[in-house]
Amino acid sequence: TNGVIVAIDGPSGAGKSSITKLLAKRLGYLHIDTGAMFRAVALMSQRAGIACDDDARLAELCRGIEIEFEREGEAYRVLVNGEDVSREIRTEEVGLLTSCISARKPVREALLQMQRKMGVKGGVILEGRDIGTVVFPDAEVKFFLTASAEERGRRRYLELVARGEAVSLEETIEKVVCRDRQDESREHAPLKRAEDAVPVDSTAMTIDEVLAFMEKTVKERV
Ligand code: C5P
Repeated sequence: TNGVIVAIDGPSGAGKSSITKLLAKRLGYLHIDTGAMFRAVALMSQRAGIACDDDARLAELCRGIEIEFEREGEAYRVLVNGEDVSREIRTEEVGLLTSCISARKPVREALLQMQRKMGVKGGVILEGRDIGTVVFPDAEVKFFLTASAEERGRRRYLELVARGEAVSLEETIEKVVCRDRQDESREHAPLKRAEDAVPVDSTAMTIDEVLAFMEKTVKERV
């Protein structure tokens, strides 16, 4: 076989992206960053001047969008209709807009189809908010990765500072909490742990510790 489907869900700043990238490499699996796909749609909606609650225009926008991941050694680029938007989708502004856009039904439906197509053959790790609950409820291995809000805010803060963005720690924690609340309380595919997902709290763990635990868990189950 080509391998199974691994789902990693959880709030922002729990370490999903770093862990998924490393775990995918160790297992030889394809890494699918579904957050990047929602971010790409948000960016395109912003450019087109579409209001966050304009479902008709969002549906139309999604019909005209093709999202691809282009592997580049360890990293990957996110392409929208062939344009590299990898950097542009990572700003705080786009992150907050994404939380609003991702709550809209037509956007979720469009990306659901794309994600299922990308993952259906197995040998993939998908990271997101609703992979284990909605996108691949039958995924062979599911994780729910969390950390305390303070720790997630702190990690996010360090990331932003390293990128040269002028932000305060308090403000960053507040934004993290605000984004989680939006993701957890939305009507369509809210962020929540699938009953059969393995919970992992990374608050006091290093990346290596989380990675070792997850790799062991995947290997036990496959
Ligand atoms: O993971 P990342 O921070 O890049 O995700 C950005 C936003 O995309 C999240 O805050 C969430 O609103 C949305 N998202 C989602 N479903 C996913 C992945 C991301 O709603 N599967």
